[in-house]
Amino acid sequence: MSPETLSTEQLRASAIEVLRLNDLGTMTTAAPNLYPHMWSWDAAFVAIGLARFDVPRAITELRTLLAAQWTTGMIPHIVFTDDDTGYFPGFERWGTAGAAALPAGIKSSGICQPPVHAIALLHILDRARENGGSDREAAESFLAESFDGWLAWHRWLATVRDPDRVGLVEIHHGWESGFDNSPRWDGPYSRVVPGAVEPFTRRDTQHVTDASERPDDEEYTKYLWLVQQMASVGFEDRAVQEVIGFRVRDVFFSGILAASSDVLAGLGEELGRHDEAAELRQLAVRFRDGVASTVDPGTGLARDYDVLAEEWISTDTVSGFAPLVAGGDRILLDRQRQLLRGPQWMGHPDLRFPLPPSTSPTSPAFRPRTYWRGPVWPFLNLLFGWASMRDGQEALSSELRSASLEQLSDLKFAEYYDPLTGRPLGSFAQAWTAAAALEWIGAADGTDGRTRI
Ligand code: SER
Repeated sequence: MSPETLSTEQLRASAIEVLRLNDLGTMTTAAPNLYPHMWSWDAAFVAIGLARFDVPRAITELRTLLAAQWTTGMIPHIVFTDDDTGYFPGFERWGTAGAAALPAGIKSSGICQPPVHAIALLHILDRARENGGSDREAAESFLAESFDGWLAWHRWLATVRDPDRVGLVEIHHGWESGFDNSPRWDGPYSRVVPGAVEPFTRRDTQHVTDASERPDDEEYTKYLWLVQQMASVGFEDRAVQEVIGFRVRDVFFSGILAASSDVLAGLGEELGRHDEAAELRQLAVRFRDGVASTVDPGTGLARDYDVLAEEWISTDTVSGFAPLVAGGDRILLDRQRQLLRGPQWMGHPDLRFPLPPSTSPTSPAFRPRTYWRGPVWPFLNLLFGWASMRDGQEALSSELRSASLEQLSDLKFAEYYDPLTGRPLGSFAQAWTAAAALEWIGAADGTDGRTRI
């Protein structure tokens, strides 16, 4: 169906159908076949979408995720269902069963993903308050019930993952960034020398039409080697840092932690938790400053830092816009917005839709169909849209919204899209893509409040 003939109501109904299709009752699978489990940052975006039509179900999503929180405070990146047929590496292969910090009865991975959860919680509260009645009561009591869990998560990141207090979160696997095979990690992975990795059969390549849309086997071997290194020390935080062959300060992750800490501080204030709110505000400042400190004065883009090689990582990837998520200095943000709209990014003349690709088409590393090496990721556009509205940038948010709605009107709800042809790629019926559509539609309907986009 062409975008001209597709009504908003049809898009909305199809997006809801995708979330229902992936709904297992208390958790939403990230996608029906390729990802038959719950992923941490997917779940947060899914909750944002669910809140547009079913606030209690949105609350359940976050509650399920939080129930898998490790005793250290870490929220794991995958919470496994019992279905071990569709996805590799599953719970067994992760080797987390023996980890001391894994809560009883939970099956999870042993790494984390960016902390977008407080932002999702804010969306739930806003929708619930618009609806009033039992939605409002449920969301407010969930806030009170869950605040300490989110606080522990932020504290864990700020201490264990930023031991030197530089305002940047250290990650130990490309999967933690969510940008698995981005050119950002080519340097650090080139220095990972895998030992003997137990034999494996990938499942992801069986669910896509073209294996070149996915990371290659050499990359995967390294991914699994890092998992083995962590498992060899029982996923114990301090020991992992000693043995792991991948230690990188992730600027985009850090930008999200800054934004989320501000949001969580606001929620803490609502609860009268003033000391914790002040602590979270300080975290927001620390990580915002950390993100700003990475900006390359030449390119204007933020950079990651390879701790083991002791060097900056400069790439033309969308993570360079971490300051736009983190918020902060007006001059820096103005320059970044100009860059984002410019010919290397949203304004590139060959783009099908004016949306930021994961890697700039002007970069030699650009691959339009390969996962994080070029494709457009719809959930990311939503994050930039939300951050733009937070900073009073309605024009940018509305540009992202109209281009996103047009892109998503193919009703495929793809995991990622070829930026040049607009072709849907990866897994279809991806839950967080459907959630992004619902949020863009709801926002276009003129919702007001702190989560307006
Ligand atoms: N995105 C990665 C994968 O599924 C890890 O979470 O394979």
